[in-house]
Amino acid sequence: MKVRKAVIPAAGFGTRMLPAAKSVPKEMICIAGKPAIHYIVKEAVDAGIEEILIITSRGKSAIEDYFDYSPELESRLEKSGKTQLVRELREIADMANVTFIRQKELKGLGHAVLHAKRFTGDEPFAVLLGDDIMRSDVPVTKQLIDNAEKYGCSCVGVKSVETSEISKYCTLGVESIGERLFDVSELIEKPTPDKVLSNYAILGRYVLTSGIYDLLEKAEPGFGGEIQLTDALNQLCRKERMLALDFEGERFDSGNICGYMEASIQLALANPEISDWLKSYMKGLAL
Ligand code: UTP
Repeated sequence: MKVRKAVIPAAGFGTRMLPAAKSVPKEMICIAGKPAIHYIVKEAVDAGIEEILIITSRGKSAIEDYFDYSPELESRLEKSGKTQLVRELREIADMANVTFIRQKELKGLGHAVLHAKRFTGDEPFAVLLGDDIMRSDVPVTKQLIDNAEKYGCSCVGVKSVETSEISKYCTLGVESIGERLFDVSELIEKPTPDKVLSNYAILGRYVLTSGIYDLLEKAEPGFGGEIQLTDALNQLCRKERMLALDFEGERFDSGNICGYMEASIQLALANPEISDWLKSYMKGLAL
């Protein structure tokens, strides 16, 4: 089994980032100098992914523009001698082979992923949620791909979250099979306290087999009236083996204001061009 393709669902309304997300896709909101989606595509590329499908929706064409050439801007920059900047802009457009599809009705994450069926065909594929930004030595997607390829099955990225937080995520029934690795037996989206299976929750990264599509096609609306990817995963793990990896790295949910602030500060601190300035600015504030 070889994972070559990735799908980035980025069609959601982003209500937690309103009013900014009213006219700017939340995936395009700037984090330490780059839009959030830049970090996601870079992670996929660094994981060895060759082709990427981004699922967008109305009002999100800025995402497509970001991964396109910009001839007028480039020629203006060339004329003023800013060739390094031109090179940087070209590198973004050439970073990956990216294609786009629109989700015309926002019926949930499961419905969004179903839009990738023609793109992935029978191949296994990675899913990277468009607002979950990771910081890790080995790209989180690569950690999942390595295990999915080794065991020939789906592998989802999990972390243990606080008991008070698990109702915001999905909970997984898991059995340890090795260091940081588990077999998955059950999943429940947004569990009530009596339904919590474990504190492990999926945080924005998956490697899935094409077996998911049959289940998504038959899926009924679940929590919040949406077609939930979790519900289809709950069926998939009963038909095929599914692993969960407690991945190494840190995850920021840039789709809410606090996660966005955390990501902005942490990624700015990791950027040598601005970290010294930021540290001294923050020291000044602390005085
Ligand atoms: P979220 O629930 O985090 O994103 O969905 P959202 O719906 O945009 O945000 P809020 O809750 O309104 O603030 C998880 C991922 O699934 C995508 C989102 O873009 C996000 O990457 N998604 C969600 C879709 O692509 N389509 C949908 O119909 C729903």
